[in-house]
Amino acid sequence: MKSRLLFTVAAIAVSAAALAGPIEDQIRFRQSAYSFIGWNVGKIKAQVADKPDTYNKDQVIAAARAIAAAANSGLGALYGAGTDKGVGWKQTRLKPEFFQQTDEARTVGIAFITEANNLAKVAETGSVDEIKTQLGKLNDTCKSCHDKFRIKE
Ligand code: HEC
Repeated sequence: MKSRLLFTVAAIAVSAAALAGPIEDQIRFRQSAYSFIGWNVGKIKAQVADKPDTYNKDQVIAAARAIAAAANSGLGALYGAGTDKGVGWKQTRLKPEFFQQTDEARTVGIAFITEANNLAKVAETGSVDEIKTQLGKLNDTCKSCHDKFRIKE
């Protein structure tokens, strides 16, 4: 009984660490997640905006689902206290304002998740033009977070 309890406590500790983890890990996972999201946004943009003749419905659906999965994965857990300073793959670009303007941070985060999920739906049922319009709405949410909370390079 006692060993089971210890095991449970250890499992909870492990899952808490997996949710957040050391500051360096949070920054690294955050930078990886946004790079992955950016890669998938680029694939959709290429196929619905830049070169519509290359449009491949299955590829666009796959990319939109990947973005939605990342958006729904709980990225907020990677914004722990102190993660506006530190090095992941490189020095973080998160502004300290993120921790002062918490309502605004939540608002832009929710808008991003909403538009990412909308894009996954439109990718399945919409025309190329509709997907392009929805990608624009998603990109507006990226931009509003970056403008407010990401240090310019
Ligand atoms: C809630 C705020 C927020 C949203 C929404 C957001 N980003 Fe970011 N993004 C950031 C922050 C903060 C960083 C810097 C992360 C760091 O360095 O710790 C970043 C970094 C990036 C990077 C650089 C990653 C690297 O370090 O190499 C890319 C690319 C990127 N975002 C693309 C996007 C795209 C595309 C979207 C929308 C589909 C998006 N982001 C939505 C906050 C956001």
